[in-house]
Amino acid sequence: MTLRPLPVVVGLALAAGVAFLVLGDPFAGAGRDTTLRPDDARVLARGRQVYETQCATCHGARLEGQPNWRERGPDGRLPAPPHDASGHTWHHPDEILFRITKLGVAKVANLTDYATAMPVYDGVLGDEDIVAVLSWIKSQWPAGIRARHDQVNRQARSRTP
Ligand code: HEC
Repeated sequence: MTLRPLPVVVGLALAAGVAFLVLGDPFAGAGRDTTLRPDDARVLARGRQVYETQCATCHGARLEGQPNWRERGPDGRLPAPPHDASGHTWHHPDEILFRITKLGVAKVANLTDYATAMPVYDGVLGDEDIVAVLSWIKSQWPAGIRARHDQVNRQARSRTP
C-alpha cells in the first residue's frame, strides 16, 4: 500500500514529458523575464550598443525607420517602421516585442509564408541583449508614450490567466 503513490508519480512525470515533447515547451515565455528596464543605466548602455550594431541600419540611427514605411515595396515587403513615438512599436507589450525580435514577425503573427525583411535574432542575440535593446528603445520615448506603454503592459498582463 505504501508503494502505491510511486507509480502515480512516475506516470504523471511521463505524461508531462510526453506533453512537453508533443506540445513544445509549455512554459515558453512564462518563466523568462521579458520586462523592459528603461531606467537601468547598465542595461541601457548595452542596449544602445546592440541597437547601433544590429538595428540602426534599418530602423534608423534616430529610430526614424525607413521612408514610406507603411507601403510595401516592389518585393512585397514592408520597409522598417520607426521605433520612435510615430511608429507602433509602443502599441505592443514587452512580451510581444521580445518575441518579435527573437522569433520573427511571421512566427508571432502565426503566418507561415510571410515575406519580411525583419531578421530573426534567435541564436544571434541572447535574451538579455534583446531585453536590453528594447529597453533602450523604450528609454528614448517621451514620458507620455512611456506611460501609455506601461498601460499597454498592464492590460496585457491582466489578460494573461
Ligand atoms: C534588415 C532590416 C532590419 C533590421 C536589421 C532590423 N529590423 Fe526590425 N523590422 C524590419 C522590418 C522590415 C519590420 C516590419 C516587419 C513586417 O511587418 O514585415 C520590422 C519590425 C520590427 C518590429 C515590430 C514593430 C511593430 O511596430 O510591429 C520590432 C519590435 C523590431 N523590428 C525590432 C527590431 C530590433 C530590436 C532590431 C535589432 C536587434 C531590428 N528590428 C532589426 C526590419 C529590420
